[in-house]
Amino acid sequence: MGAQALPVGPVSYDLAIVGAGRVGQTLGRLLAALGHRITWVACRTHAAAEQAVRFIGAGLPTTYEAAPLHLPAPSRSVVCITTPDQAIVATATLLAQRGPVWPGVTVLHCSGALSSTVLHLLHPAGAHLASMHPLHAFGTAIDDPEVLRGVHWCIEGDEAAKRVARHLIGALHGQVSEIEPEHKILYHAAAAVAGNQITALMSVAFAILEHCGIAPDQARAMLIRLSAGVLQRMQAEGEIVALAGPISRGDVATVAQHIEHLHVLPPVYGAVYRSLSQVLVTLAQRKGAPQEALAAIMQILQA
Ligand SMILES: NC(=O)c1ccc[n+]([C@@H]2O[C@H](COP(=O)([O-])OP(=O)(O)OC[C@H]3O[C@@H](n4cnc5c(N)ncnc54)[C@H](OP(=O)(O)O)[C@@H]3O)[C@@H](O)[C@H]2O)c1
Repeated sequence: MGAQALPVGPVSYDLAIVGAGRVGQTLGRLLAALGHRITWVACRTHAAAEQAVRFIGAGLPTTYEAAPLHLPAPSRSVVCITTPDQAIVATATLLAQRGPVWPGVTVLHCSGALSSTVLHLLHPAGAHLASMHPLHAFGTAIDDPEVLRGVHWCIEGDEAAKRVARHLIGALHGQVSEIEPEHKILYHAAAAVAGNQITALMSVAFAILEHCGIAPDQARAMLIRLSAGVLQRMQAEGEIVALAGPISRGDVATVAQHIEHLHVLPPVYGAVYRSLSQVLVTLAQRKGAPQEALAAIMQILQA
């Protein structure tokens, strides 16, 4: 799955947005600013659609039931379904039941966990189908194009729809990777580990330092600086070179003491330490740490 930066596509699209929350409004606003035409913006209520159109700065506010499905220029028309994941199938069903005639229209969703196959009810309408998922956390809708510059997007779907997705992502200066539809859920699990579980992991480290009497702000500053350095090193040299600490040195005594002293904290902290340390043992093996020491560490971790 190779990633590549793409040039801005020459094509101008007519974009309709179905479910204009954080991602839908962001796409609408940034792509409108790049010269794409926002045709209509649909939400469950007209009031929500009006609010979204105010943020986007373009488009006709409407509801899913009232959205004008006649798209006069199908080959350059794109319908983005940006409802929450659990509503994508129902929304596609609702659109399909309205009997759109969409030969050559591209329908996209932005879910990381779901593939474009969930849009299959729109296939008989003639639509091309794909998903394009940004590996970015949207706390709110974004109005600054620089925020999305360089973000990696993962796409899958039919060739024509993927071509459109590449143009849109290229316009946003994103980077594209392709994935097979059947891998999307594991791909999303990876994103959850790197994007969400890292937050849990850091909160464990913060709590341990706070237990040592260090103020929360100070603990956060100290540990985020440490982790940022590790991430930079991992990016530059890979995780094996970046690996440091007692397990990479085969330091059995220190690991045993960590586990003993973690008992004063909630059991989940010890469990996190033990399970992640087992992964570290595997990495330390690849780094060439002494086998005997690593075997002893593994025994302590699994006790
Ligand atoms: N947020 C992120 O960080 C992020 C990152 C990458 C990908 N994504 C993906 O982007 C898509 C949109 O996510 P989002 O974060 O933008 O969602 P969101 O902010 O919650 O917005 C969802 C939109 O869909 C509408 N909606 C809510 N519940 C609905 C339902 N049950 N049926 C139909 N419409 C409903 C909402 O408008 P009304 O309530 O007014 O109808 C709202 O405009 C999802 O597939 C998500 O996985 C999100």
